[in-house]
Amino acid sequence: MVSVNILGTGSYVPPKILYNRDLEAMGLDTSDEWIIQRTGIRERRIADPDVATSDLAYEASVRALDRAGINASDLDMIVMATITPDTCCPSGANWLQAKLDAPKAVSFDVTAACSGFIFGLDVAEKYLSSGAAQNILVVAAEVMTRTVNWKDRNTCILWGDGAGAAVLAAEKNGHALLSTHVHTDGARGQHLLMPGGGSKTTPISHESVHEGRHYLNMIEANLSFRVAVRHFIESIKEAAAHNGVSVSDIDWLIPHQANIRMFHSIARSLEISMEKFYVTIHKYGNISSASCAIALDEAVRDGSINDGQLVCLPVFGGGLTWGSAMIRW
Ligand code: COA
Repeated sequence: MVSVNILGTGSYVPPKILYNRDLEAMGLDTSDEWIIQRTGIRERRIADPDVATSDLAYEASVRALDRAGINASDLDMIVMATITPDTCCPSGANWLQAKLDAPKAVSFDVTAACSGFIFGLDVAEKYLSSGAAQNILVVAAEVMTRTVNWKDRNTCILWGDGAGAAVLAAEKNGHALLSTHVHTDGARGQHLLMPGGGSKTTPISHESVHEGRHYLNMIEANLSFRVAVRHFIESIKEAAAHNGVSVSDIDWLIPHQANIRMFHSIARSLEISMEKFYVTIHKYGNISSASCAIALDEAVRDGSINDGQLVCLPVFGGGLTWGSAMIRW
């Protein structure tokens, strides 16, 4: 089998910041203290109304391609992880393909909610290791703030916008993608739900909008918290076991960023230091699929990750979806 390597990463978040205090000022029955204490979130980025998901993806992708030293015209494939594509048809990846001018690349979306980046890496790994492709761009991008009901304090405080990308190749240079693991359980998919807009309720109507069916709903957030922690822990153990290392050998954990308290629970359960967690939740909130892609890129760029270190990206999301990637940087 050919080894699969990450040649470069990139990320982009829109400049506009929405602070917790802004949510208070919008009349939401919440407080800066509550949000920080219960989630770790202090602020999140919010895309301007004329900015679409592929615009954020484009910015992250250009940076990743630049760092990888690859031209968009050399890409064989673009895999875009998103639950907030510009349009249902064409795919978000196709909008991006046009913007990047990557005519050789076959492009498509992967829908796996907050786990999407790892599902994208998994697809890329299979194509590259089989020799079916040479250069693949995996990008995770979301405009989550356009799906939230700003009157629902249970959900709107959590989400933000942004994009993260990685260029992977079937060659020896770069940082080795050692493993990917992905799992789903559709039977437990009701906790995070956007009921409107799909075939179940189309066409979008005055009635469906009036009833708020186009909003992202979170049902039993408490339960989802506990389930997430369990799957994060399982995923980290699975990645470690597959690579013949122990959990304590992992230098960096870069999980999907949903709630800082999840990280504390994982750290307690696995008896690992919080210092090993790379955290962006305080400044970006939950950006669904893009969260861990952005965190990986920032950890690389600020020098946190050193060559040779073992980096694990465990994820969990609606669907249900979960899994991990392990990288030898
Ligand atoms: N501000 C103030 N109070 C709030 C609030 C807000 N933004 N949101 C909820 N509350 C209230 C609730 O109404 C409840 O009040 P009550 O006790 O009077 O009924 C109280 O705070 C506690 O609510 P609870 O839901 O138990 O809070 P929590 O500690 O579980 O935190 C979440 C809520 C959503 C932050 C937390 O459950 C979470 O992060 N869950 C995971 C969700 C998730 O990310 N799922 C997808 C995984 S990718």
